[in-house]
Amino acid sequence: MTKKQTVKIKFYSGEDIPLELHKVRVVQKLNLVPIERRLEALFESGFNTFRLNTKDVFLDMLTDSGTNAMSDMQVSAMMHADDAYAGSQSFFRLQKAVEDVLQKKYFLPVHQGRAAENVLAKAYIQKKGDLIPMNYHFTTALAHITQYGGRIVELLYDEAYNITSEHPFKGNMNIEKLDAVIRETGKENIPFIRMEASTNLIGGQPFSIQNLREVRKIADKYGLRIVLDASLLGENAYLIIQRESEFLHSSMAEVIGTITGLADIVYFSARKLSSSRGGGICTGNENIYHELEGLIPLFEGFLTYGGISVREIEAMAVGLYETLDETMICQSPQFISYLVRSLMSKGVPMVTPPGVLGAHVDAMQMCSHIPQLQYPAGALAAAFFLVSGVRGMERGSISNQRDENGNETYADMELLRLAVPRRVFTLSQIKYVEDRLVWLNENRHLIGGLKFIYEPPVLRFFMGGLEPVSDWTNKLVAKFREDFGDSL
Ligand SMILES: Cc1ncc(COP(=O)(O)O)c(C=O)c1O
Repeated sequence: MTKKQTVKIKFYSGEDIPLELHKVRVVQKLNLVPIERRLEALFESGFNTFRLNTKDVFLDMLTDSGTNAMSDMQVSAMMHADDAYAGSQSFFRLQKAVEDVLQKKYFLPVHQGRAAENVLAKAYIQKKGDLIPMNYHFTTALAHITQYGGRIVELLYDEAYNITSEHPFKGNMNIEKLDAVIRETGKENIPFIRMEASTNLIGGQPFSIQNLREVRKIADKYGLRIVLDASLLGENAYLIIQRESEFLHSSMAEVIGTITGLADIVYFSARKLSSSRGGGICTGNENIYHELEGLIPLFEGFLTYGGISVREIEAMAVGLYETLDETMICQSPQFISYLVRSLMSKGVPMVTPPGVLGAHVDAMQMCSHIPQLQYPAGALAAAFFLVSGVRGMERGSISNQRDENGNETYADMELLRLAVPRRVFTLSQIKYVEDRLVWLNENRHLIGGLKFIYEPPVLRFFMGGLEPVSDWTNKLVAKFREDFGDSL
């Protein structure tokens, strides 16, 4: 049994400061351009932070996907990659890492997380109207399921929708509702149950192992499979060690193995899970492997590379082992917790308890004067970029897709997500984020709404274009200059 590492470090001053347990050896210069240039950049990018050019971005808090810092071990592993279309040794090293860390014998590589979602939806959604119960959707998972004619139902407990809460596991599946949905729908119309580790869209909120065990019982009762989205599994496991009494003394390896052991199929974005690129699907069941196998060469590439470069495959293998190192995983959640607590103490409405992936600002409350039809979270993301150069991501109604009749489907939460990728930012950068957000909160009445001027039919949030409904951006720039003088 692996012994749990201790990562708690107390300061003599009594201050609760997250201490970096790594040193910086390769750096990248950042630009902080003046607010007037940031305003131009917003118009050029259709007020959509996805479309900004990083030459205009100071701190990139868009996502942790493909932006976590790589370790020296990962970078050096990339140097001994084995270039081969078929049978690459790099692949076998990765397969071994998957077996050791995720404890599943059969592995199918895919080029990133959503490719796994495509393969699973294609393989298992047999007829129009098939229903996938899940704790909560992720944008790309939903898009693939609906693309193949499926539907989803989200089954969180009511507490998960309370923005401020101390519930440690807001990502838990509502067991009673799950049972009822299966009975009403008929198990023959349910291809699988999907559980997402650290439910992304409600603020990176984890589920507990106790809850997953109960989901397993229901799945067994009806003979259904559980598909685990493990993209944020490392962070979910870390929060289980922090919050679930049975696992307070467990190692990351034990917790991760317990979770994956309860799922039939595990898929992941390696851009997140292993701080690399790529993705994968794994299972302990040979039949499942064969059900999916044929789709990999069709969509991804041969079975020993799956569309991933061999160099990234090496980085992925090392990154998977490093997921078991609590000192590596804890850095991002600890920074997030620090940022959330300091912002809350200064009156900024935040999602609590602090989750993983990023700090989430409650735009519905901060911009309560902006109707949901004018996208408060999108407006806040644009306004925050304008006053800080920090690029966050809208996680609200813009990220939702329209229903089959073309009507808006309003998000349950309007959030500005400020991602904190693993080991990328320093504490003074986090303090800058706090400073500018506190200022913006005090001047929030100056933020106005947005409207679409270009709306793609699928995953509109990626490339959609918007514009402000009034000249609110100029007022915000004027107030910034008044308060900050010639500061960048
Ligand atoms: C929970 C979750 N699932 C799936 C994905 C999709 O992964 P990818 O971006 O590698 O396609 C993501 C990406 O952000 C995610 O957060």
